[in-house]
Amino acid sequence: MTLLRGGRVVTPEGVLEGGCVRIDGETIAAVGMLEPRPGEPVLDCTGCVVLPGGVESHCHLDLEAGDHVTADDFATGTRAALAGGTTTVIDFATAFHGQTLTTGFDRWSAKAEGRAVTDYAFHLAMTQWRDELADEMGEVVSRGVTSFKLYLAYRDTMMVDDGQVLAALTTSARLGATIGFHCENGVLVDTLVKAALADGHTTPHFHALTRPAVLEAEAVDRLEVIAALAGAPHYVVHLSSALGLEAVRRGRATGNTVAAETCPQYLLLDAGAYGGPDDDSLRARAFVMSPPLRTASDRNALWAALASGEVQFVGTDHCSFDLVGQKDAATDFAHVPNGIPGIELRMALMYSAGVAAGRLDLTRLAEVTATNAARYFGLHPRKGALVPGADADVLVLDPAPRWTVTHAALHENVDHTPYEGIEVQGRVRDVFLRGHRAVTDGHLAEHLPAGHYLPCGPPDTAVR
Ligand code: URP
Ligand code: ZN
Repeated sequence: MTLLRGGRVVTPEGVLEGGCVRIDGETIAAVGMLEPRPGEPVLDCTGCVVLPGGVESHCHLDLEAGDHVTADDFATGTRAALAGGTTTVIDFATAFHGQTLTTGFDRWSAKAEGRAVTDYAFHLAMTQWRDELADEMGEVVSRGVTSFKLYLAYRDTMMVDDGQVLAALTTSARLGATIGFHCENGVLVDTLVKAALADGHTTPHFHALTRPAVLEAEAVDRLEVIAALAGAPHYVVHLSSALGLEAVRRGRATGNTVAAETCPQYLLLDAGAYGGPDDDSLRARAFVMSPPLRTASDRNALWAALASGEVQFVGTDHCSFDLVGQKDAATDFAHVPNGIPGIELRMALMYSAGVAAGRLDLTRLAEVTATNAARYFGLHPRKGALVPGADADVLVLDPAPRWTVTHAALHENVDHTPYEGIEVQGRVRDVFLRGHRAVTDGHLAEHLPAGHYLPCGPPDTAVR
């Protein structure tokens, strides 16, 4: 047994000032105003915030993308996650063209097993739709995958059409599963990209211009029409814009059950990162991701929506490609591998820019970084909350230190961080995964026990 004593303990019922968490083996035995038992080890958490270990709703580890493979695999990506206070990751197992969904599941299980040092679960990303996938979705649900993903973007590679969306949503509703949608109008993006390249516009600035927010909103609006036909709960992955958010609101107003995830990059960064039309620096290429970064007013709208319950959880979309050897190899923005890293910094950035900056309270921080994703993806009550009986996944965060992000200090296996130079308040001090001490006073343990596969139960789509 270990007693974490005297912190600001963030529970689903509110913050217990000077409260305690008792860990017994791999489980939380008690939460409350507790006294140490004779001989019980005590970890003094005075002055610290005690949070549920983070649940990462969106990452791509060991993902093959065209000629590239992400710089982080399950070993390095989950190590970085753990160092940053995230104890569960839900990665996108991906079934590529012609592969069965069980092949996608089996391949990702092999990538994670014995390498992951956080606990892990899977979504299943479907890069095309074929009628037989309806049966295969049922097969992977029985293996503990209850969330799927479809792309309304990436024409000619992963985009599905409206009829296929209807077929998939009808199936997921029947199975009691959910589907996350990458919402951008892939046909119009493709047209705009081709026109920009034909005009000789090749820099990352044009990546943002060819994927405007209105195309996110259009895709959400269309999705909402189809989801209403199917009567299917669903969610929008990596919501990036105020226009997209308004479309989510319209969907809800028609009675749809639609959740929304956003990411730290859409809350902290903006399109200024792409530089001007002539900037083809590696720094600008670092921010090539889809959807692209938006404006300060989009950021503000997403923060307000996160605080109010209109956006339910924050995942990073960690999809790490090196600047040198990967992002630098492309001839133009359309061929720069899409994605950015962020899995290690999520909890600290959300505390700093959320709580310390006065945008979120501590209870909401726990909800959007852990509890809601655990509920939505069927991992609650085992994961996502400091409650008796749950796995002892705990983050002790010291709110006082101010520090500056540098790539050199991170554990991610990628050659940069998009958050370089950002000032952060609050630092991960200690992390427990199922009661095992993974981080002590900011230092990641050298030997970490293997992470466990978590079969997901039915989604709780009512989170707010
Ligand atoms: O640019 C991004 N987001 N890359 C990762 C793949 C995806 O679309 O989620
Ligand atoms: Zn993604």
